[in-house]
Amino acid sequence: MGPEVRLRRMTAADLPAVAAIEAAGHPTPRAPQAFADDLALAHARLWVAERGAEILGFIDYWVVAGEVELIDVAVAPAARRQGLGRRLVEHLRADVPDAAAVHLEVRAGNAPAIALYRALGFVEVGRRRGYYADGEDALLWSWSPSSDDGSSSG
Ligand SMILES: CC(C)(COP(=O)(O)OP(=O)(O)OC[C@H]1O[C@@H](n2cnc3c(N)ncnc32)[C@H](O)[C@@H]1OP(=O)(O)O)[C@@H](O)C(=O)NCCC(=O)NCCS
Repeated sequence: MGPEVRLRRMTAADLPAVAAIEAAGHPTPRAPQAFADDLALAHARLWVAERGAEILGFIDYWVVAGEVELIDVAVAPAARRQGLGRRLVEHLRADVPDAAAVHLEVRAGNAPAIALYRALGFVEVGRRRGYYADGEDALLWSWSPSSDDGSSSG
């Protein structure tokens, strides 16, 4: 058991732990400085999931013109498949309850992330061929109140 997982805003002190989770989660991880830069942006919102003093995951999203761009979400490998990824994305939707849409890009081969977004009612809306530095395609996925058929509730 142990302490509960809580979500709280990310601070600069979290950046080493966040960078480690990022490095474990992506073939081409964002540099730690990218998170530091986002912490300074008025339109960026960054949260960590924490159990005791241990950071288990994070989410980074931008709120621009009434829509949300999900920049990054990741969970430490040992903490996956326990509902944290879902909780972080649901937190985004609760934090911006009047969002007209939530948009994101995901690697075409990232099956866990695609399964998560599908489970949350997102739909695929496009593809950018060769988008990533290693040539992998990006898929564009979106969620909006009107695209949600209710399957993501519960
Ligand atoms: C994608 C990621 C954030 C999911 O986090 P998680 O905490 O493991 O996800 P959850 O436990 O909340 O899963 C919720 C649902 O998503 C789906 N899902 C998540 N991981 C899955 C997997 N490996 N295989 C199949 N379905 C999966 C399932 O429907 C799951 O529900 P279930 O466990 O009841 O079956 C995690 O795998 C990760 O950090 N990956 C590396 C970083 C990354 O790719 N981020 C996305 C960038 S676009």
